[in-house]
Amino acid sequence: MSTLAASGAAAKPGSAKKTSFGKAPGGEDVDLYTLTNKNGAEVAISTYGGVVVSLKVPDRHRKLGDVVLGFDSVDGYVGDKSYFGAIIGRYGNRIWHAQFTLDGKTYTLAKNNGENTLHGGIKGFNKAVWTAREISAKDGQALELTYLSKDGEEGFPGNLHVRVVYTLTDANELKIEYFATTDKNTVVNLTNHSYFNLLGVGLGSGDILGHVLMIEADKFTPVDSGLIPTGELRGVTGTPFDFRNPTAIGKRVDSDDEQIKLGKGYDHNFVLRRKMSDRISLAARVTEEASGRVLEVWTTEPGVQLYTGNFLDGSAQGKGGVPYAKRMAFCLETQHFPDSPNHPKFPSTELKPGERYHTTTIYKFSTEK
Ligand code: BGC
Repeated sequence: MSTLAASGAAAKPGSAKKTSFGKAPGGEDVDLYTLTNKNGAEVAISTYGGVVVSLKVPDRHRKLGDVVLGFDSVDGYVGDKSYFGAIIGRYGNRIWHAQFTLDGKTYTLAKNNGENTLHGGIKGFNKAVWTAREISAKDGQALELTYLSKDGEEGFPGNLHVRVVYTLTDANELKIEYFATTDKNTVVNLTNHSYFNLLGVGLGSGDILGHVLMIEADKFTPVDSGLIPTGELRGVTGTPFDFRNPTAIGKRVDSDDEQIKLGKGYDHNFVLRRKMSDRISLAARVTEEASGRVLEVWTTEPGVQLYTGNFLDGSAQGKGGVPYAKRMAFCLETQHFPDSPNHPKFPSTELKPGERYHTTTIYKFSTEK
């Protein structure tokens, strides 16, 4: 185990640790970086998939608990099909029939979800080994991950240079900044796929049905049976998708609603109520009464995917051998809307040479009495 103390004026008490996390299928060494803030909160990030492996934040009694699902070593992530904690790219969520047209040219992508492409294809960014570098940050400890996605990877055009910076701030925030540049016109939609349970994720901890959720969205994007958006932006009023007033996730998750049935629960993109003048705005807030933990999600993105772990079936043995069952966690994946390359009316996901893709999402933890 080596200790990499942050250098210079920005050095913080509690330096980042680097440990071995195993080997990737290609034989590459995989490292686990643990960042700690001045409150003792801690995040561990793997260079395989840029995965958030654990995230320990205080409850109302200042007791730290791990609030994300994951695995004890890289092997769990190699076999994983649920994208636990991973960086998702090049394209978060689905692209219809694994194809899109850009500048008159049709690109065919890898199919990994029936006829569609999900989360970047067969070998998305979640299966890449990233290059890590500890960097100094004014507000906490930061880790930079970089990856070159080559022209044609999974069918996407352009060499895409991707940089993701994770910062654990002293305000108990996990800040994620995504940057990318390309040498050909392409599409990009990056996110993180952490599965949260604010009760903590140890053996015997409960499901997320009692977590109370607020989402700053007046509309959502309804889907077809392949979970592809129909193109409609539908008002949430009178539907199980109205989270403008804080509501328990479990209250309507099994309701007799066509969209809920298609998603087998919540698996939908919400259209965030964002003021374009605000660089970053509140997307969602989740509170959990027993622990007192509160999670706020802030983002520069126009959408957020609420996924309630509908496809978890207990077959994944997570950290400490805990089986991850249905509704054990929720995801709030900040993003541009699914299948945007096939929906010219959705906010554009195109990136051109000379442009810089830059988005920010903050998962902010606090407690209430
Ligand atoms: C998708 C789900 C999918 C899950 C895990 C979510 O972003 O919307 O349909 O099952 O990721 O892959």
